[in-house]
Amino acid sequence: MKLLLLSLGLTLIWAHTEGTHDAVTSDFDPSKYSGEWYSILLASDQKEKIEENGSMRVFVEYIHALNKSSLGFKFHIIINGVCAEIAFVCDKTEEDGVYSVEYDGHNTFKVLETDYDDYIIFHLINKNNGNTFQLMELYGRAPDVSSELKQKFVNVSEKYGIVKENILDLTTVDRCIQARGG
Ligand SMILES: *[C@@H]1O[C@H](CO)[C@@H](O)[C@H](O)[C@H]1NC(C)=O
Ligand SMILES: *[C@@H]1O[C@H](CO)[C@@H](O)[C@H](O)[C@H]1NC(C)=O
Ligand SMILES: *[C@@H]1O[C@H](CO)[C@@H](O)[C@H](O)[C@H]1NC(C)=O
Repeated sequence: MKLLLLSLGLTLIWAHTEGTHDAVTSDFDPSKYSGEWYSILLASDQKEKIEENGSMRVFVEYIHALNKSSLGFKFHIIINGVCAEIAFVCDKTEEDGVYSVEYDGHNTFKVLETDYDDYIIFHLINKNNGNTFQLMELYGRAPDVSSELKQKFVNVSEKYGIVKENILDLTTVDRCIQARGG
C-alpha cells in the first residue's frame, strides 16, 4: 500500500512538471529554436486570417537558426486544396528578441515563452496599409501537446485580447503533415 501511494505520488509530481519545467520567458537562446516543429494552436484577433484560405493559416515544419541575426522558417500552406511549401528568412530588429519579415504586409514577432524541448509560443503583429492584427502561435516538437499547455496558450492569448472563439486547434485539421520532408 505504501509503495502504491509512493508511486502514485511520483506520477502526480511527474504529471505536474511535464511540459512546464524550464520554461524560458527572456534571455532566449535562438540556436535552440532549430529543428522540427508542428503547429498546434493558432489565434488571431482577425479570425479570417487563420481560417480556411487565410494567409496566416500556415503549418510549420521546421525552424533553422541561420546565424545570430536570422531565423529560417519552413511552412506549408493549402492553396486550392494542395499543400504548398513556403519558406522565410526573418531578420532580427533593433528591438531585443524581435524579428521581422515581409508577408501579407510587414510582420514583427517575438518568442513569448519556450522550453525548447516541447513547445514554443510566438506573438506576431502584422501591419498592412494601416490595418493591424495580432497572431499567436503554439508550436510543439511533437504533433500534439498536453491539454495543460493548450490551456496556458489560451490564457496568454486572452491576456493579449484574443478571445477563445478566435483560437483554432490545428491538431484536428489537415496540417500537411504528409507533405513534410519534401
Ligand atoms: C545571416 O544569414 C542571413 C540569411 O542567410 C544573411 O542574409 C545575413 O547576411 C547573415 N548575417 C550575418 C551577420 O552573418
Ligand atoms: C477555400 O478555397 C477553396 C479552393 O479555392 C474553395 O473551394 C473553398 O470553398 C474555400 N474555402 C473557404 C472557407 O472560403
Ligand atoms: C489559466 O487561467 C485560469 C484562470 O485564470 C487559471 O485558473 C489556470 O490555472 C490557468 N492555466 C494555465 C495552464 O496556465
